[in-house]
Order: sequence, then C-alpha cells, then structure tokens
Amino acid sequence: MDTAAFETDLSLFKYDNLEQLPAEYRALDAEERTERIEAAREELGDDVVVLGHNYQRREIIEHADFIGDSYQLSKEAANADADYVVFGGVTFMAESADVITDDDQSVILPSMEASCPMAGMAEALQVDAAWADITAAAPDEDVVPITYMNSYADLKAFCAEQGGLVCTSSNAHRAFEWALERGDKVLFLPDKHLGENTAHRLGIADATVEWDPWDPDGKDADEVADADVVLWDGYCQVHERFTTDHVAQVREDHPDVNVVVHPECRREVVEAADVVGSTSTITQTIEDADPGETWAIGTEIHLTNHLQRWHPEVEVVALCGDACMDCNAMRQIDPNYLAWVLEELVAGRERNVVEVAPEEQELAQVALDRMLEV
Ligand code: 13P
Ligand code: SF4
Repeated sequence: MDTAAFETDLSLFKYDNLEQLPAEYRALDAEERTERIEAAREELGDDVVVLGHNYQRREIIEHADFIGDSYQLSKEAANADADYVVFGGVTFMAESADVITDDDQSVILPSMEASCPMAGMAEALQVDAAWADITAAAPDEDVVPITYMNSYADLKAFCAEQGGLVCTSSNAHRAFEWALERGDKVLFLPDKHLGENTAHRLGIADATVEWDPWDPDGKDADEVADADVVLWDGYCQVHERFTTDHVAQVREDHPDVNVVVHPECRREVVEAADVVGSTSTITQTIEDADPGETWAIGTEIHLTNHLQRWHPEVEVVALCGDACMDCNAMRQIDPNYLAWVLEELVAGRERNVVEVAPEEQELAQVALDRMLEV
C-alpha cells in the first residue's frame, strides 16, 4: 500500500484551517465565560443557532438551542434559518450539517480537533481500495455500500456514487432492507458492531463476514462471495469497552435494574441488555421510566451524567461504573472555544468553519437524502 499518497488526502487532516484558542480565552473562569457566551448570544440573536450532541459536556449543553442525537441535530441544522450553525459535536456531524444547510449558512465547529476516531477508521481512499477487492470477490453480485453517519463526507459521497446510502443507529435496519432490495450484498462501514447488531435484528447474522482493512492478505474471496453482509472492521472505543461482565455485575448490585445500551456496543452486550437504541432512544427510555425505577446506561458518560441530573426521580447508574469513558473527540469542544467563536462572530469573523468540498457536497447530499427516504 502506498501510504504516502494516503497521508496527503486523509479526511481526518483535510481541515487545515484549524485555529488554536487565543491565550486570553484559555484563562477565562467559568462565571465570566458564561456571562460572555450569553452576551454574545444576545448580540447575535437569531443569526446563530447552537446545537449540542447528547455527549457534550454540561457547560456546552446549557448553551444549546437544541440537544439531541446525530440524526435529530442534522434535521435541526436543515431547519435552521440562522446564518451560523455552531455545532457542539464532532467533525462528521458538522460536515453533515454543512451538506444539508444552504450555501449562505456557515457551520462552525468550535474546535477543529473534535474528530471521531471511528470515522477515521474508514478513510474514503482506503475504502476505495478495498471496494476493488470486495467487488472482485463477488463479480456476479451487486454490492451496496452503507456508511454509518459517523463517517467523513467523502465516504458518504463514495457510497452514493456506488448506489449506497447513509444510516444512523436508529434507521440502520431500514437502510439494510433498502440496500438488499436493490442489491445482493451490503458493505457496512465503519462500525462492525452496529453492522452485526443490525444483521441480527434482520435475521441474517449467519451470513456476515468481517473485512479487516489492515490485513495485507485481505479476506478469502469465497468467504466474501458467500456473505450477505461485509462488516468493515471499525469500532468505537467508548462503546467497545462494555462487556457482559459489566451487565452481570450491575444486575447483581441492583436486582431490579433495567439495562439500556447503544448499538455500537458488542453483540453479546446488546443481547444481555433490555433495551438498545440511539442516544435519543436512551434519553427517551429514561424520560419514560417510572419514578423509583433503576436504569443502567451503556454509553458515553456525559449522557449518563445528564440523565442523572435531568431525572432525579429515576436511579440512573453507569453500566461500568467509574470505568465508563467520555468521548475524547466530543471533549475537544471546550466551553472556552464556544466563547471565542461566538465573540468572533459578533466581531464579524468566522472561525473554524467546516466546509465540505463542492465535489463531495452533491454526492454526500444524495447519500443523506436516500437515508431520509428509508
Ligand atoms: P447517536 O447517533 O446515537 O447520537 O450516536 C452518535 C455517536 O457518536 C455514538 O457514539
Ligand atoms: Fe465517535 Fe465513539 Fe465518540 Fe461517538 S462516542 S463520536 S462513535 S468515538
């Protein structure tokens, strides 16, 4: 593999307009920061909308106009009339927002370092190379690529170009059905756990094969030819951490506990849980819980903490206790960055704008539109 060529075009590094936080903002204390964020918001009025993913820290969430999962936030971005969409989330979410907002709207990611490591596990160039091998292994079959929302815009564009689409954790099963009505085989990227959990839901788990893009020998062509679903070997380290031992332990510690997990968790963890779903399903589950119920949550720790705060009537526990992780990418959105980008907007300067290249915009839009159809 010619790695030099890859390094110049990796999606992870294509935003070279990364700007560091000025020293003045690094020293802000919490009270002054909150006052300045509120003053800037007041000044900007309807010109700005602030979106906060469920995994953002409290100091971002409390300034958000909308809080939600990645799918809900892209819909809020699409509906926004504001000139500026400030996205408390990670690069792939801001890219999707840029694709679906109008050309005269700017999408701002307060810190350009907020890149989801799982999205980086399936670079479009790398997928392009694997595509040649996978389609060669099954020359008489139509392979339809599906990429999870957690991927860069160039991979979304690649999927559209090859007749595929995007999905989120809440509609992956419908995306699989859509693809298998139009083709013979699905290539699912980049999260193997969401792919496997979806194949189980559809009763086709026996016909899956994993594709390790880092294995120089690739996969046996016969295995690929026999499979209905080829799972790219990517994963989220925050969710892969959960094990069935955690579920067993929480059930021992809290005999009446219910367990809800995100579908990025391993198959056996999902099987051991009571409810599985996106971050909005997790939120809704706790909202719907009766007072006094106990729920263990298997997802990023900030959401668990928010739910504890928002629903004191429910006992909310973290599925693996102190071992539950926060998402390093989400954590890059520091509230001091939020203060900075908002005050810069007041001064008429746009910082850390995420702009998908025009040649990718159109195709990525097709892939996202197909998702909205399913
Ligand atoms: P949701 O789409 O469920 O919000 O999840 C996004 C994500 O990054 C999960 O790790
Ligand atoms: Fe990516 Fe996992 Fe963070 Fe979600 S929790 S943004 S999948 S690293």
